[in-house]
Amino acid sequence: MRERTFVMVKPDGVAKGLTDEIVARIERAGLKIVSMRRMRLDRGLAEELYSVHRGKDFFERLVEHVLSGEVVVMLVEGERAITQMRELSGATDPTKAAKGTIRSDFGSSITENVIHAADSAESAEREMRIFF
Ligand code: CMP
Repeated sequence: MRERTFVMVKPDGVAKGLTDEIVARIERAGLKIVSMRRMRLDRGLAEELYSVHRGKDFFERLVEHVLSGEVVVMLVEGERAITQMRELSGATDPTKAAKGTIRSDFGSSITENVIHAADSAESAEREMRIFF
């Protein structure tokens, strides 16, 4: 099934110069980057993106991290794009992510885990609407 999803290279990923590597992995998986923008989030946008995590103990840490530098937001399209992007990204915790995934290869902590990819069709729709 052809899907669209929302992906964001987080500030640690941008700072480490990983954007081109991540774009290459997405394209090699047969997915298409429909739109892409390098930008700085403001607090309102960061809190809206992560609104489902509001109230959790890591919420402030997460928001502070995504505000700490530039991010690259992407609209990605293709067969099973949502699942494929979750597979390419790997588990949230880089130490638990499968070998060869973006977070396993480049992540340094559960907060600095390089990439965000929408976790469901509903999240994808909501997140795409915020940024595109
Ligand atoms: P992301 O895919 O961007 O979605 C929510 C983010 O919260 C997640 O990646 C992590 O970077 C961050 N996070 C920080 N601490 C935790 C935690 N204990 N459990 C889940 N997510 C966490």
